Parts: sequence; C-alpha cells; structure tokens
Amino acid sequence: MDSTAIVLAAGQGTRMKSKLPKVLHKVAGIPMLEHVLNTLEKAGVKRKIVVLGHGAELIQEWLPEGIEVVYQWEQLGTGHAVLQAERLLQGVSGNVMVVCGDTPLLQKVTLENLQERHITSQAQVTILTAVISDPQGYGRIIRENNQIKAIIEEKDAKDQEKAIREINTGTYCFTADFLINNLAKLTNTNAQGEYYLTDLIKLAVEEGLKVEGFVLDDIQESLGINNRIQLAEAEKVLHLRALEKLMLEGVTIMDPSSTYIGCAVEVGADSIIYPGTILEGKTVIGQDCLIGPGVRIVDSTIGSNSQIQNAVILESKVGNNCSIGPFAYLRPGTILEDNVKIGDFVEIKKSVIGRGSKVPHLSYIGDAFLGEKVNVGCGTITCNYDGKNKHITRIEDGAFIGSNTNLIAPVKVGKNAVIGAGSTINKDVPANALGIAREKQKNIPDWAKGTKDN
Ligand code: UD1
Ligand code: CA
Repeated sequence: MDSTAIVLAAGQGTRMKSKLPKVLHKVAGIPMLEHVLNTLEKAGVKRKIVVLGHGAELIQEWLPEGIEVVYQWEQLGTGHAVLQAERLLQGVSGNVMVVCGDTPLLQKVTLENLQERHITSQAQVTILTAVISDPQGYGRIIRENNQIKAIIEEKDAKDQEKAIREINTGTYCFTADFLINNLAKLTNTNAQGEYYLTDLIKLAVEEGLKVEGFVLDDIQESLGINNRIQLAEAEKVLHLRALEKLMLEGVTIMDPSSTYIGCAVEVGADSIIYPGTILEGKTVIGQDCLIGPGVRIVDSTIGSNSQIQNAVILESKVGNNCSIGPFAYLRPGTILEDNVKIGDFVEIKKSVIGRGSKVPHLSYIGDAFLGEKVNVGCGTITCNYDGKNKHITRIEDGAFIGSNTNLIAPVKVGKNAVIGAGSTINKDVPANALGIAREKQKNIPDWAKGTKDN
C-alpha cells in the first residue's frame, strides 16, 4: 500500500511520571514508537511523518532514518497536532492514516484491514473502533441507525453517552483531500479547549460525506499507554505474542509465564527453554539447544545443540555443541568456538576460546586467546590488569594448564605445553615444555609431635 501516515507523539505523557518522553519507554525491549513505526512499515506505509513536541530532541536522536518530522511546540490538541503536518501533505493523494505513538499493540493486519475498508466503502474517513467493557477515558462513538455521526470525548460526554462502550482507538484512515481541506476548520470550543481531530467526523457528516467504522476483533490492540500499569499490560501482551510465535515455529517453552523473550529474538526449532529464562535484544539461538533454567542472554548469538544453564551472557558469540554453566558469566566480546565447555563459577571477558577447549571450574579468563583443545584447570586466573593497562594472554593448541595457576599477562603458553598446578607464570612457556613455578615442598619429620594432645 502506497500511503502516508502521521504518528502523533508530541504529548508529554504526564501520567508516566518520567523524565523520558512517553513514546521512548520500551515495551518488549524496544521503544513503543518503534513498535508503531515497524507496524506501519510492515503494513506497507511508505511515508511516515512523526509529530514531535515534548522531548523532541531525545526522540529525534533515536529516530530511524527516513522518518519525516514536524513539530508541535504547544500541545493544543490532536487536530492541531495533525495540522502541523499540513505543509507536508500538500500534493498528497490517496490515503493518510493517523496513528498515536502510544499504541504499541496495533498489528499490521489491522492497519491493512482498516485501509481496505476505507477504500471499499469509499468513505472520507474510516475510524478504528473497539467495543470494550470499561470505556472510561476514551472518545465514544455516536451512531444513528448504525451510521457513525460523531465522536464525543469523555470530558464532553453526557451520562447516556458515557454509557456507550464503542470507543475511538485513535487510529484513522482519511482520504487525503478531505483531511487537507478540513483540518483548518477545527475549533477549540469544548471542555478541554483543544482542537480535537475527532471533530472531523462531525464535519464530514455535516458535509454529507461518508464516515465508516472498522471494529477491532482483538480489543487488546486498542490499548493506549498512559501510565506504567498500562505499560506492564502491553509488555505482557507483546511477550506472549513473541512466545506464541516461537512456539508455533517449533520451540518448546516450558513455562511461558516465567519466560521473557524480546520480540527481536530468534530461536531455532526443537530448542527447549526452561523456566526463568530471559532473552533480550538481538539475540539469536540455534536449533536443539537447552536454555535455562535461570539464564539471561542479551545481544548474543548461540549456535545449535548447545546447553546453557544458570548463566548470564552479554554481547557474546557461542558456537555449536557448547556447554555453559551452571553459574557462568560471559561478558561482552567473548567468542566460544564449537564444542567448548565452560563450567561452574567461570567468568570470561573479551576472549576467544578455541574449538574443543575446556574451562570447567572456578576460573577468570580475560583478554585471552585460547587455541583448540586447551584444558584450563580449576582455579586458573589470567592476571590481565596491572592497575593501569590490560594485557593479553595467549594459550596455544593442546596446552594443559594445571589447577590454581596465575598467568601474569602479557604471557604466552606454547602449543602442547603443560603448566604445573599452583604455578604463577610470568614468562612465556615454549611449546611442549613443562612450566612450573612454585616452592619445592619440604617435609619436616615429627614436626607435629607434641603440638597436639596425642
Ligand atoms: C484521544 C482521542 C480519543 C481516543 C483516544 C484513544 C482526541 C480528541 N481524542 O484521546 O477519542 O479515544 O485518543 O487513545 O483525539 N498528542 C499530540 N499533540 C496534542 C495532543 C495529543 O501530539 O496536542 C498526541 C499524544 O502524544 C498521543 C496522542 O496524540 O500520542 C493522543 O493524545 P492523548 O492526549 O493521549 O489523547 P486522549 O485524550 O487519550
Ligand atoms: Ca491516550
């Protein structure tokens, strides 16, 4: 569909009680305005004009390329907001949709259906409406003989109008000419002293033009976010949508109520997600993985057939057939090649762990390059920081690091070299050598005799 949309986002969002402009609050990991813009994009809307006012600078910093912006410095109402785009609408033909920036649950098919209804009914304006049990706060749809005659705002409504349960969702499709020719006719003679966009309905009816309504099936989509309770409601709905999509694609989610997966996350078929798992950002997980319980993964890639339990993984890349945790922490810049084992109480930072290597317990590996089939014994530490600078540790293929080793970087352990347990290594160890750096043991005979009651 080759059309234009105006997204209203100039309001302050007072009820959010926040420093952040309302539309930048995140739902399922991305700002609510981004949800709206994505949905418009998916519905084939080519031209998107956003009306900004409160927090315009912050929003503009974040706004993706290709979005046009107009400003409404004084928030004099939704009609006044759309009027700010008047200049950009000159010469536009076809349809113009108007959408609020605070309705992140709207779906692509709904916008498509709304436009289609608008076209087939040959109306000048088609309103997306919903019939809900608690219409308080919304504009009510006034019908006569089933025809829409007006939208009355809550604050202007008489008691019998307040009882109407069909509401205006704030999403509309206008014929461009009608919108352009009538916006300037709006007045602010109402309870709030605002220029209401919704008064265009009455104007159309007075001019004998056709107004159509499209009633939402799924009323959740009508949710406008005004406060943090509604933000949490939207979060719940979007999460469930993300989980359902994955489940239909072949992912087992054992307990959806305790699993949070952002809407940009991808998971391969036959992967099983245990309770207490949080997957965020641009995370991609392969097939046949076991993830959880108690796992948080952010902006990371996990290969297929890997197992991860009780771990935090940030901005890292994990290969196929890896085993991680329990109680492991992969910090940004970690790369695990295939068949790597990272066991319990292990922290890895900005390091590459080569194919088939193992760091099974109680270790810190930072700023290190490990080759293939390296075995890192329990309690190994790369001493990468001298108080001022970070230094690199290199451990080449097949090396064996004995337990409780300190590797003082910069240092290199050569191919197939062995480090004796308990060593503090501050000089390079050549390939195939044994590096050992510890006090020789001495035994003092009978030393304990007489020191105890035996
Ligand atoms: C509006 C509708 C109401 C509808 C409801 C749906 C009007 C007069 N009323 O009411 O019929 O049921 O949405 O949620 O249109 N905005 C601006 N500039 C302004 C005023 C608002 O950009 O001067 C933006 C806000 O940032 C927001 C959107 O328009 O994204 C809706 O504004 P809001 O104040 O929430 O309108 P409602 O009173 O909820
Ligand atoms: Ca609102």
